Amino acid sequence: MNAAAAEPTSEGGIPARAYPVTARAPGKCILFGEHAVVHGRPELLLAIDLYTQVSAHRAEAWSLNHRTAPVRENPYLARSIADWGPPDRPLALTTASRLPRASGLGSSAAFVAAVLAVAAAGTGGCGRAELARRCYLTERGAQGVGSPGDTAAAVGGGILSINGGRGPLRWTHSDGGRSWSVRSVPDPGWTWVLGYSGIPHDTARTVRAVGERLAQPDGEELLERFAAVATEGIEAVVAEDRDRVGALLEENHRLLVEVGVSHPRLEELRSAVRPACVGAKITGAGAGGSIVALPRPGRELEAIRRIARAGAVAYGVRVAPEGVTLLEAPRPAGETLVESPEGD
Ligand code: PMV
Repeated sequence: MNAAAAEPTSEGGIPARAYPVTARAPGKCILFGEHAVVHGRPELLLAIDLYTQVSAHRAEAWSLNHRTAPVRENPYLARSIADWGPPDRPLALTTASRLPRASGLGSSAAFVAAVLAVAAAGTGGCGRAELARRCYLTERGAQGVGSPGDTAAAVGGGILSINGGRGPLRWTHSDGGRSWSVRSVPDPGWTWVLGYSGIPHDTARTVRAVGERLAQPDGEELLERFAAVATEGIEAVVAEDRDRVGALLEENHRLLVEVGVSHPRLEELRSAVRPACVGAKITGAGAGGSIVALPRPGRELEAIRRIARAGAVAYGVRVAPEGVTLLEAPRPAGETLVESPEGD
């Protein structure tokens, strides 16, 4: 094996930039292996084209959307500032997001990635692997539990396998005796359909409850079953085998039911969308939150309509190819854009 090819890549970091700065980070959707990934098993997830945007300009004190209270009360923001925001150079932050909070679609990871990207821009820039490390530590610190999966998607973009797959290695994390390697997986270009139940969930509480379930005598065996489904799922996505991916989504769902994170509303949404899809499952921590479904070819709109008619918030999403990025700075008022004549 070529040693150089195994080196983690971290190309395309966050450049240094003067404020005001705006960053945009994608949400995520987990296809296989949520919960088991916390225990070091494989996961497959995609960055989705629903984004959180954070803009920052210099100010006398830290604020979020013109208020100072969230700086203390929002654990993700408080952690971000305490760990990575230079305290002597406060920022006024404004945020807008298409990701519902506590929905299993990665709103907190996208928020942390966008905040830490604007903070990094003003402090000399930051490589992508280093930004992923900061985001993981911040989200983990705020939540108290969790894996680097969500923040990897927000920072890395595309489809990513954690502790599995054979794609290019992006970076690695290790923490508390566990390690996670993050690899890119090619995108088959499918449209995925998501349904948010409107029932917010508490990721930390759910992860702890599943941890207790997995500590029982059959826990190891359950984890191995999660790992087998995720490993096969990664291969099926690489092979663009839609029917196989659908069957594995269903199998992964049954495991999530076994560890106790389903919810009657999620089962209703699955039943509603199934006729138009090859498979559907809970995505994220569960116990509320969202489902992900893979439509049969040409039946994407029908799947979206089925979820909406069942009373959930429906999204048709594609893979967001890029992780968090800085957007072009807004032009100062009065400045006009004059195009150079050709050949100038
Ligand atoms: O935050 P959620 O609901 O999207 O869940 C994330 C996935 C878990 O595996 C349950 C937790 C984690 O940190 O990986």
